[in-house]
Amino acid sequence: MVIPVSGEPIAMFLAWMGEARETGVSLPECVALATVNAETQPSVRMVLLKDCDANGFVFYTNLNSRKAADLAENPRAALCFHWRELGRQVRVEGRVEPVDDAEADAYFASRPRESQLGAWASDQSAELTHRDELLRRFQETEQRYANRDVPRPPFWSGYRLKPARIEFWQEMPHRLHERVLYIRAENGNWVLRRLYP
Ligand SMILES: Cc1cc2nc3c(=O)[nH]c(=O)nc-3n(C[C@H](O)[C@H](O)[C@H](O)COP(=O)(O)O)c2cc1C
Repeated sequence: MVIPVSGEPIAMFLAWMGEARETGVSLPECVALATVNAETQPSVRMVLLKDCDANGFVFYTNLNSRKAADLAENPRAALCFHWRELGRQVRVEGRVEPVDDAEADAYFASRPRESQLGAWASDQSAELTHRDELLRRFQETEQRYANRDVPRPPFWSGYRLKPARIEFWQEMPHRLHERVLYIRAENGNWVLRRLYP
């Protein structure tokens, strides 16, 4: 068995993420985030994983975006990581919860100033009539916060996906890939199943 059997999928995920970094995978924290709105329309886009521990998987975004609207209607979401250089995929499913303000503030404060200004300037997922409008909004924000710290916009924060299922996929010869699925039981323990590839 290539995928070790352990009762701790989060530790396993962090170990795989560490190996992806060591192997030089470009942007290993890049992850596809799938949401489904109230009309059951799925939607998927890439985001960056910013934190992961026993409490879940954290990403940040604009709270007026399409993904945020989907998540307000339906908090169920899924993530899919792919680390091609390692022949690995990890899929996560669960419900999201908003991160608390202090956590979002701390992360926002750690971002480069240009990204902070960009967060204010972008009305993410709304129609933009002309790109100049975005640049003008960026410049206005730059002037507004000249010589002072950029606060976190009230419409920008994070979500923590609390995993109910985590599946590890390892590429193997002859397409005899390994799949190990962890399902969170009612008592909070993880139950492990192996799946055919
Ligand atoms: C590599 C990559 C990383 C991205 N990371 C984020 C991110 O962390 N947060 C975010 O809001 N958008 C991120 N985006 C942009 C999203 O894919 C998407 O265009 C945007 O969030 C709007 O999506 P929505 O209209 O479905 O809400 C990223 C895009 C790429 C290609």
